[in-house]
Formats: sequence, C-alpha cells, structure tokens
Amino acid sequence: MKLIKSILGWLDDRSGFSDVVMPMLRHVVPDNARWWYVFGSATLCAFAVQVISGIALATTYVPGGEAAYESLLYITNEAPLGNLLRGMHYYGATAMVVLAIIHMTQVFLHAAYKYPRELNWMSGVVLLFVVLGMSFTGQLLRWDANGVWSVTVAAEMAGRAPVVGPAIAHAILGGETVGGSTLTRFFAIHVFVLPGLIFAGIGLHLWLVLRHGISEMPNVDEPVDPATYKEDYEARLQKTGVPFWPIAAWRDTVFSIAVMGLIVGCALFFGPPALGTSPDPSDINANPMPDWYFWWYFAILSMLPPQLETFVILGLPVVGLLGLIVVPMFSNKGDRAPSRRPWAVGTVVFGFTALVVLTIYGYRKPWSPDFGVKPLPASVVDSSDPAVVHGAELVHQKGCMYCHEIDGYGGHRGPGLSDIGKRLTQPELIIRINNGGYNMPSFAASLNADELADMVAFLNTRGGAVLKKDASSSDSGVRK
Ligand code: HEC
Repeated sequence: MKLIKSILGWLDDRSGFSDVVMPMLRHVVPDNARWWYVFGSATLCAFAVQVISGIALATTYVPGGEAAYESLLYITNEAPLGNLLRGMHYYGATAMVVLAIIHMTQVFLHAAYKYPRELNWMSGVVLLFVVLGMSFTGQLLRWDANGVWSVTVAAEMAGRAPVVGPAIAHAILGGETVGGSTLTRFFAIHVFVLPGLIFAGIGLHLWLVLRHGISEMPNVDEPVDPATYKEDYEARLQKTGVPFWPIAAWRDTVFSIAVMGLIVGCALFFGPPALGTSPDPSDINANPMPDWYFWWYFAILSMLPPQLETFVILGLPVVGLLGLIVVPMFSNKGDRAPSRRPWAVGTVVFGFTALVVLTIYGYRKPWSPDFGVKPLPASVVDSSDPAVVHGAELVHQKGCMYCHEIDGYGGHRGPGLSDIGKRLTQPELIIRINNGGYNMPSFAASLNADELADMVAFLNTRGGAVLKKDASSSDSGVRK
C-alpha cells in the first residue's frame, strides 16, 4: 500500500499530473447548470463506447471484399462477445448522433453560442458533420446490400455533378464501381482519418469549454453584452459558482451511466442490425435501406425533380454546414432567453417537424424499387383476352411493378401506370419500354416482340379508355 502510494506520488510529482488536471476538475461552474447540461458529456461518453467497441471489432474485422462479410458473420455468430460488441457499436453510433443533435439544439435554444463561445459552437458543428461521416462510412463496412447501396447512390449522384463529378465519384469509390477498394478506402477513413479529426475536435471543444466556462442558464434580464460579459460572468461565478467536481458533475455522471446502460441494454436485447444479404447485384430480393438517420435526406432527394438532385446531394451538406457555422456570426450578442427569441424557437420546431415527417416518408421509401410486389389479381387485370392476361403477368415477371404501381399494386419509384392507356399511345408505350428513361432501364434486350406486344396490349387497357381490339389483332392473342 505504502509502496503503491509512493510510486504514484513520484509519478505525480515528476509528471505534474494533478497540478494540471485537478484545477480543471475543480474549476468553478455556474450552479444553475442543471440537467439541461448533461448532453455534451453524454455525447463524449458515447464516443468512448465507440472507440472501445470499435477497436475491439477492428481486431477481427477484415476490410476486404468477400472476406469482410465472412468476418462479420464470424464476429456476429462465433466470436466471444462479438454480437454484443457489434450491437454496442451500432447503438453507440445512434446514441452519439442523437445526443449530439440534442446537445446542439439545447445550445441553440439557450443561445449559448453567443459571445464569447462562438468558436465552441463552430467546432461543435464541424464535429457533428464528422460524426455523420463516421455513420456513413461505417454503414459500408457492414458490407451488405444496405451499405453498398447507400454508397452506390451517393457516388452515382456525386458523379453527375458538372466538371468535378466523375473525379469525386472516383475518389469515393476508389474506382469505377463499389468494390473491394471502396471498402479498403472507407475502412481507412472510418478508423484513421475521421476518428483523428474527432479527437482533435473534441480536444479543441473541451479546451474552449474550460477557457470560457460553461454558460449560465439564459436570463431574460441579462442579455449578452460583449463589453461587460466576461466581468459579469466572473463576478457571478465568484458569488454563486460551485466546483465542477464533485458538486456539479454528478448529473453528468448519472446521465452518462444511464446512456451506457441503454446502449448495452439495446445491444443485449435487440442485438446488432441483422446482416443483410451479401451485396450481390443480381440478388433482386435485396431490400436496401440506409440507417434511419439518413432517411430524411434520401426522402428529400426523392422528391426533387431529377435536374436538381445533383445540386442538392452535393449542395445540401455544404449549405447545412456553412449555414450552421455562421449562426454566431449573425447574432453573437443580445438576448439569450428563448422567450425573447421566437424565431429561434420557431426554427427548432419547424426543423424537428420537418425531420420527423421526412423520416417517416423516408421509411416508406416510395422512391426505391419495391422487390416484394405481388402479381396482379384477375380482378385488376379484368380481361379474358389471353394477350392482355399474359401482358399482366409479364409486367410482374419482368420487374416493371418494382417501380410502377397499378391499382394499388407495385412500387412507387416511377409514375403510376393505372391510367397509362389514356396517357400514352401504343407506339409511345413501345418506345418507352424499349428505351427506358430517367431511372428506368431499357427493356429492348430483355423482351421479345411477342412479349412486348402483350405487355403493350395490357398497358393499353389501363385507364378505362380501352381501345377495343378488332378481330384480327385478338387473333394474335391466341398464340401461346
Ligand atoms: C427501376 C425502376 C423501373 C422499372 C423496373 C421500370 N420502370 Fe418504367 N419508369 C420508371 C421511371 C423512373 C419512369 C419515369 C421516367 C422518366 O420520366 O424519364 C418510368 C416511366 C415509364 C412509363 C411512362 C410513364 C408516363 O407516365 O409517362 C412507362 C409506360 C413505363 N415506365 C413502363 C414500364 C414497363 C412496361 C416496365 C417493365 C417492362 C417498366 N416501366 C420498368 C422506372 C422503372
């Protein structure tokens, strides 16, 4: 005991550890910084979970093509604690994104980004985007259809940007298509580049928190005046401040432990996300879907006219990042109380409503092909003409209905075809099916002339305005 004490004492004396750390822990903070203030430290705690579980996973994960999927199967099904670790890493990521956003919302509502904490806010915004980058790159490491699909979509869209597009797409994919080199690249970004940025960012962020002190709860009678703020803050701290450790920190501790409990609980209870099917492009039963916090983004993209898609997929993150970063530049003084900042409150309410609505819309993902469609029942086909009946079978067999809805059956990637017979003539239908269109593949090579004729015969009946066939053409329907 004595020996340990003297070794520790020696280490402390020579390194100066407590001289540096104790004042940090004991520094005085406002005493009204209550439960509102626990989200930042909890985000940090979730990050710690990510680092630990991530390193553990990296000891077994193989970042290369086919082997990646195999190694994940091994981690999930055989490695000791593997399933738990994957679950913790997944729910930890969710927790980190959610907590960071709550933390940011709280800071915004209380205008804690105003003088002198502008840089705290800016570094925090950058951190949030790096964290989202971690989620995005992490998804691909799962190397199942979901992850591969998300990245393919992103790269394809980036590739459409003028001039720089192809270079960006090439840089994302590490080649022309998603493949082993994409995985290697994403792995390096996910475990070296972005975590490095996060460590540096958190270092800066925490240093700034110490430098400027934790903000007080907003007070209607005390708007921020840069000329006097620091003096007033110091004076109030002298009067009412409490040491961070141990007086103020217990709430952070309790909340962080609760968050960790929740992460481990979810990991044990729900387990990690099931590994999707391996990314086999010929597997049409894949039902690809990015992780839920990106659904809103894909929902926005799906609603845009195609010409705008490219600008938005590249532009929205940049606009979002810059828009958030400049917030303190527009207002770094004056009122902090939410009751005096109706626009700020309105922005938050609007933002979250939009997020929820878009997420729900994104969950239903009407833009993505629906591979689970059922064949059309006879009541919908509503014809005894063999050509029409055969055509109806074909629109199902050939996958038209993955993307097109007919009387409530089928996906929504393309326009509905319930009344297409009224909108397009037979020659127009033939051209469309042979040539495809924007986001519709060409079918010229996969249909023979008879199949095409039957399909057009069927589509032509949609919409009620059926052009009654004359005797000669219904003869052709008799062929088998
Ligand atoms: C991968 C999804 C997808 C598949 C599969 C698909 N389509 Fe399409 N289809 C679309 C999209 C998207 C459009 C809109 C294209 C555009 O506006 O350029 C479209 C447009 C059409 C149109 C024109 C609709 C209109 O209102 O003008 C017809 C007709 C059509 N498709 C028929 C078919 C048939 C028949 C098949 C099967 C042989 C098929 N499609 C397979 C996505 C698909």
